[in-house]
Amino acid sequence: MQRRTFLRQSCVACFGLAGAGLLLEGCGSALPLVKLTPVGNTISVPAAVFAAQVMHVIVRSRTLENDILLVKENDTTYKALYLRCTHEGVGLTATDKKIFCSAHGSIFDFNGNVVKEPALRPLKQFKTSTDNTGIIIYLS
Ligand code: FES
Repeated sequence: MQRRTFLRQSCVACFGLAGAGLLLEGCGSALPLVKLTPVGNTISVPAAVFAAQVMHVIVRSRTLENDILLVKENDTTYKALYLRCTHEGVGLTATDKKIFCSAHGSIFDFNGNVVKEPALRPLKQFKTSTDNTGIIIYLS
């Protein structure tokens, strides 16, 4: 391959990656995910998953059909949102910017409220508390 051809192809590849980066930035960044097993009716999330600057963590359990988005409000207050769309029950996607449904376009904020229809009801929330090891999510 000639040097000129190589440079031209490299530039096209770089612009392509930069464009993809801009597209992804509009959607927000992927969030940290922890896989945990409930004990009884609770899930205990280690406090360490909320490293510096981390405000949102996805909690996955094989006993739940959909993930839970755990939102840190401050050191002792967390919100646990069930990532199931209230429109027709499709699993939601959460990024550091928003919670959205790829089925019909509903968007929710980090309080679980509807930002964009067709969903009309807020997301289900689970009660939470904290102890000296982390955050406890109460599944019912
Ligand atoms: S199922 Fe989510 S918007 Fe319809």
